[in-house]
Amino acid sequence: MNVGTLVSYDSEQDSMVSSKNLEIVIEGGKIKEIGRNLNSADDIYDCKNKLLTPGFVDCHTHPVFFEDRHREFKMRVDGLSYDEIAESGGGINSSVSSLRSASEINLKNRVQTRMDNFLKLGTTTIEAKSGYGLNLDSELKSLKVLNDLKSTHLIDIVPTFMGAHAIPKEYKKKPDEYVDYLCEVVIPEIAKQGIAEYNDVFCEEGYFNLEQTKRILEMGCEYGLIPRIHADEFKNIGGSSIAGILKCVSADHLMKINDENIAHMLESNVTAVLLPGTTFFLGEKAYAPYEKLKNTGLDVAIATDYNPGSCNIQSMTFIIMLSVLYMKMNISDAIYSSTYIPAKVLNRHKTSGSIEVGKIADIIIWDVLELIEIPYNFSINPIRDVIKSGNFVF
Ligand code: NIG
Ligand code: FE
Repeated sequence: MNVGTLVSYDSEQDSMVSSKNLEIVIEGGKIKEIGRNLNSADDIYDCKNKLLTPGFVDCHTHPVFFEDRHREFKMRVDGLSYDEIAESGGGINSSVSSLRSASEINLKNRVQTRMDNFLKLGTTTIEAKSGYGLNLDSELKSLKVLNDLKSTHLIDIVPTFMGAHAIPKEYKKKPDEYVDYLCEVVIPEIAKQGIAEYNDVFCEEGYFNLEQTKRILEMGCEYGLIPRIHADEFKNIGGSSIAGILKCVSADHLMKINDENIAHMLESNVTAVLLPGTTFFLGEKAYAPYEKLKNTGLDVAIATDYNPGSCNIQSMTFIIMLSVLYMKMNISDAIYSSTYIPAKVLNRHKTSGSIEVGKIADIIIWDVLELIEIPYNFSINPIRDVIKSGNFVF
């Protein structure tokens, strides 16, 4: 390919680099050469007037649900809060009912369509959580769907177990027994089947408290599941401090994080995963304190948090727009935080997350020349083409 402008993390310089008028040679799904006057390609694809970036790595999504929740969206539009809807029988538990009764094949078809859309929107690697099953059978069904798609779909899928997404209805009055069940029955079986890499807990008032979070994540660690946390989203109960103490790879959301929490995260180099789409979709005003987190030296990633309740957004381009506009992220950092940093969170940074020799050829070809035109043009999706493992998606 002849490239107008290439913007990518560069490991030799350990920073984002912008280069003009390069050629990229792709062979066997990987990047073989980057340079000038290479002349070794069979087919030449002309991108002389285009901007290229790495494919997006969306490191936080909840795509394994069955029915959508547009009726709840209507309730929010009519004035009810996310909490009020959850208390009146909606929320995560309403997705649990429909997922439990869906057949595996029907569920898979829906998740597959969502993965098609992610890929078209430039996401070439995606972390995907279970968490709408909340019992052994349905969590296994969810993770099985993800693992099937992992081997058949072009997009790279990284499966996360999130049995601790909510307390299921049948355990409402005995939440600690649900935690026992997760620790004694579900986690060992998930680990035995080798169908998840990460273990995530929704550490939040009304969901899992600090003690329960700690038990679930420590048990996961014993079984080789890498810990992550949903922390400080609506209230601060200390979730991101626990992330530091337990050496989680990331703490996600962080809208209500404070200085003490940040100090704990720094001690263990926990990456802050910010999800501005959720703040936006819930109609909230206070975005996570990106500048503060960044200035302390923490790595920051951005992701969609795609889910049927609090964030029906699949487009990383849109997330970048929210990040630059409402979190004051500079545009080059926004690309870094949506490609290389999330690849590190998912431990895929040796193979994905940047356009460098030897890596998988995951590339977005933009219909623009300057980075800032990406968020500026978000409403018309300025993506010309997506290359996944050397294949053109469109
Ligand atoms: O990440 N925070 C927890 N879970 C989701 C919401 C899931 C839902 O409403 O279905 C989130 O925002
Ligand atoms: Fe989430």
